[in-house]
Amino acid sequence: MVEPRHLPMDRGLGKTERIDAWWKSPMAMAIYLGLAIAYATWRGLMEADFWIFSDFGNSAGTQTMAIEDKGSHVLSPLFSPLIIPGEDGLGSRVPEALWWMSPAMFILIIPAGFRGTCYYYRKAYYRSFFASPAACAVSTPFGDYKGETRLFLFQNLHRYFMYLALLYMFVLTYDLWMATQFHQNGNTSFGVSVGTLVLLLNVILLSGYTLGCHSFRHMIGGIRNRFRNGGGSIAEACWKSCTKLNKNHNKWAIYSLFWVMFSDFYIYSCTEGWWSDIVLIGGI
Ligand code: FES
Repeated sequence: MVEPRHLPMDRGLGKTERIDAWWKSPMAMAIYLGLAIAYATWRGLMEADFWIFSDFGNSAGTQTMAIEDKGSHVLSPLFSPLIIPGEDGLGSRVPEALWWMSPAMFILIIPAGFRGTCYYYRKAYYRSFFASPAACAVSTPFGDYKGETRLFLFQNLHRYFMYLALLYMFVLTYDLWMATQFHQNGNTSFGVSVGTLVLLLNVILLSGYTLGCHSFRHMIGGIRNRFRNGGGSIAEACWKSCTKLNKNHNKWAIYSLFWVMFSDFYIYSCTEGWWSDIVLIGGI
C-alpha cells in the first residue's frame, strides 16, 4: 500500500508560506453565501404562520410573495410553485398540522439541495466555511482532507437534485408566462412589466446554471465516459454544447443566485409599496 506523503508545511488554521492575499477569495465567498442564506431563510420564514413571524407577511394580512395589484401575477421564485397550506390546489393536500409552514419551506429544499451539492459550490463552501482547505497550500484546521466520505456521501444525491431542478425550470417558465397575463373582470390581456423582465432574466440565468451542470452534461452526453468513432456523435455534440456553459459554471452559479434573491426582493418591495411594478407594454 502506498503511504501518503505530506508536504513540508506548517500545520494549523490558516498556516501557510504563501505571501499573496489568498484569504480574499474565500472570505468574499463566505460573506456572499452567508448573506444569501440569511436572506433566503428570513424570507422563507416570513410567510410562515407562527408567533415569531406573526407581524410579517401572510400572518399579518399582507402577502409578500407575488405582485397582484395591477392584475398581473408576478410570483417570487422563492415561493414557486405556490403551495399555500390549507388553500386550493397543492395546498389542500397539506395536513393541518403543517399549516403554520411558509409556502417557501415546501420547495426550497430543491434549489438548496441542488446548489448545496453542486460541484462548484462544494469547492466554494468547503473553502469558505470549513477551511478544508481555505486555499491551495494552506493548512487545514481539522486534519487532512479525507474526501467526500461518511456524512459527505450525501453529495452523491446531486444528480437527483439535478432532475428536480430541470422540472423546476418548467415551473419557473410557467411563472414567467403568468407574469405576462393580466386579469381584470374575467378578461385576460397580454402585458410586460418590469417584474416580467426580472423573471425573464431569472429564467435565463437559472437555465445557464442548470444546463451547464456537470451531471446534466454527463446525462445529455449519453451517460458515457468516452465517445467512440461513429457511435456517439449526437451525444458528443450535446456534450460539447453543454461544455460551453459548463466552462463558466462558476459565473452562472454566482449571478443566478444573486438574481433569485434580487427577484424576490423586487417583488417583496413592490408588495410592501416601496415602489411600484411599472407596466411597460399592454396590461389592463
Ligand atoms: S455541478 Fe453545479 S449544478 Fe451540477
